[in-house]
Amino acid sequence: MEFSYVNQTQIHFGKGQIASIKNSIPKDQKVLMLYGGGSIKKNSVYDQVVQALAEHDWLEFSGIEPNPTMETLDKAVALAKQEGVQYILAVGGGSVIDGSKYVAAASLYQGEGWDILQGKYQAKTALPIGAILTLPATGSESNPAAVITKAATQEKLSFYNPIVRPVFAVLDADVMKTLPERQLINGLLDAWVHVCEQYLTYPTGAMVQDGYAETLLKNLLALAAGFENRDTDNWRENLMWTANQALNGLIGAGVPQDWATHMIGHELTALYGVDHARSLTLIQPALLRNQLTAKRAKLEQMGQQVFGLAASDDLAVKTIDAIENFYLSLKADTRFSPEGEDKTSSIERLMKQVEAHGLLAIGENQAITLKEIREILNSVIK
Ligand code: NZQ
Ligand code: ZN
Repeated sequence: MEFSYVNQTQIHFGKGQIASIKNSIPKDQKVLMLYGGGSIKKNSVYDQVVQALAEHDWLEFSGIEPNPTMETLDKAVALAKQEGVQYILAVGGGSVIDGSKYVAAASLYQGEGWDILQGKYQAKTALPIGAILTLPATGSESNPAAVITKAATQEKLSFYNPIVRPVFAVLDADVMKTLPERQLINGLLDAWVHVCEQYLTYPTGAMVQDGYAETLLKNLLALAAGFENRDTDNWRENLMWTANQALNGLIGAGVPQDWATHMIGHELTALYGVDHARSLTLIQPALLRNQLTAKRAKLEQMGQQVFGLAASDDLAVKTIDAIENFYLSLKADTRFSPEGEDKTSSIERLMKQVEAHGLLAIGENQAITLKEIREILNSVIK
């Protein structure tokens, strides 16, 4: 086990914490507030932010869409450059926070922002970011990752850079009260798969990472089982904190990671607009079955520790069935039929993108090659 670990994002958790941004952002910094399609205007989050920024010089940019596009974000970059913005305040879910990371880095770069996604430019500087989270799911509020879409070419790519990890994040679970049920379930599922990507690999005897990952998975199962309590502070707060911990770097430190489900899932979102979390439930059970031998030991461990299954010869298979049934119980599909397109052309189109994006050997053993991805898509697409 070898790693360097730091997560410098300061978390302000709990009711009324939006007001704390007043002191978290230096008063002499010009702030650009970024947000999405307007949900924050319907639940008083916008008003709370405006009140908290009363002593700051600030401006706003709205309209960052789910699966944020470079095309929209470049307009925010132009505004930030023109206005001499010094601090980015992201108010929203993973899309707005990811988008703010792009804006923060691209605003201090003279070239094309897309270079960051293509790995042509590794940012050494970026504007500081503060985040007010309105949808617990991605962990973006305290991690260094961002996923951005180029609408023109239907490409969805990610970048990782510690320079864009938010300085602070406000996690007030009250903001979740207006979340549509579908988004609440998406958050739960995305957090679940984030833990799986860092846990369902092969055993390394990392007791802290495994034990904490199992706790987070059990939390998510319990929250799903107690879904009727979703309109309580306790339920909301537990989902918000669990989703944050699922992807803040801790459980993945020093252990093998997979992320193949995410990489293939991003292609489904880019081509067919499938919600991020739903793309994962489509791909993951088929991927686990495809990689059964390599993942058997961890699947067995998960079966016993998370689902409470008894030891048996087919425990790994039963664990995958339990995962799939968990998704189906939340009305998340595990098979996909593209509208107006037959199975063969859909697979060909997806494989073309997969190849173009260099997904030639992915997963913890680099054992998921084009052949395996095709097999996986063949099981998923109807
Ligand atoms: O745009 P508004 O009007 O705010 O509406 C949003 C959006 O339509 C709405 N919403 C958010 N908070 C709300 C609310 N509606 C009512 N009440 C609230 N409190 O929810 C919709 C979805 O928002 P979005 O931000 O797109 O969802 P999510 O947080 O699931 O983010 C998904 C994006 O994050 C990326 C995904 O690929 C996707 O682009 N990811 C980022 C990761 C990271 N940075 O580490 C990792 C993830 O695996 C993921 O790939
Ligand atoms: Zn995810």
